[in-house]
Amino acid sequence: MTSKPMIPSMGGRELGPVFIRYIDEMPFGLDVVEVGAWLGAGTYELASAMLAHGHVGDGKNESSLHVYDRFIADKGQVVKAAGKHRYPAGITVDGRGDVLKLKVGMDTLPTVRGFLHPFKFVKFYKGELGGMSYKKGKGIGVLVVDALKRDPHFTKLMKKLEPHLVPGAVIFLMDFYYYKKVKGSGTECQGAYVKKSGKYTLLESLPNLACAVFRYEG
Ligand SMILES: C[S@@+](CC[C@H](N)C(=O)[O-])C[C@H]1O[C@@H](n2cnc3c(N)ncnc32)[C@H](O)[C@@H]1O
Repeated sequence: MTSKPMIPSMGGRELGPVFIRYIDEMPFGLDVVEVGAWLGAGTYELASAMLAHGHVGDGKNESSLHVYDRFIADKGQVVKAAGKHRYPAGITVDGRGDVLKLKVGMDTLPTVRGFLHPFKFVKFYKGELGGMSYKKGKGIGVLVVDALKRDPHFTKLMKKLEPHLVPGAVIFLMDFYYYKKVKGSGTECQGAYVKKSGKYTLLESLPNLACAVFRYEG
C-alpha cells in the first residue's frame, strides 16, 4: 500500500485510534457508514481499520464502508484547507509533492476517491443528505455522523438510519460537545435525541474532539 496521504481533517484523522478500537470489536459482515466525509480523512482511518481487522479482503462475509456527502467544496472548507483555520497552506498529497488546492464549487469526489484508492470496498454516495438512503440487509455496525448535526435534519437522519443499526452498533456523534454548549436553533438536538430515545448508552466522551461515542442497545 502507498504511504498514508496527508488529508486535511476536521477531526476524522484524529479519531483514527478510536475508530480502530471499535472496528476491532465490530462483528464480521456488518457495514460502516460515514455521513459527512469532507475530504475523506476519517474515511481513510475507518477503511484502514476495517482492512487491518479483517472485515474485508478474504471474500467471505465482507463489510463495506458507505460514505455520504455532497462532495462540493464550500467557502468555509476552502478557507480551512488553505490554512487560515487549522491546516497548513497547501496540502501534500501522497508524499509525492502534489499540492491540493480547493476552490469554491469544486467537485471534491475525484480527489477523495484518489485518497481512498487502496480501499475498493468504499462506496461513495454523492448528493444532498436529505435524500440519502442506505440499502443493505446485514445492517450497520459503526456509524459516524459528521453532517446534519442540527434539527430537524439530525432527527430525520437518525430515524432513517436507526432501523439499520444492529444492537451493539457504535455511533460517533461529531460536534456533540460543541452543540451541547450552543443553545437554540436545534443545536442541542443530539443529546436530546439519545436521551429521549433511551436506546443509547454513552461509551466514551472525547471532549477534545467534541465527539461522543454511544452504543445502540436496540
Ligand atoms: C464537518 S464536515 C466533515 C468533516 C470530516 N468528517 C472530517 O473529519 O474531516 C461536514 C461535511 O458534511 C457535508 N454536508 C453537510 N451538509 C450536507 C448536506 N445537506 N448534504 C450533503 N453533504 C453535506 C459537507 O459537504 C462536509 O463535507
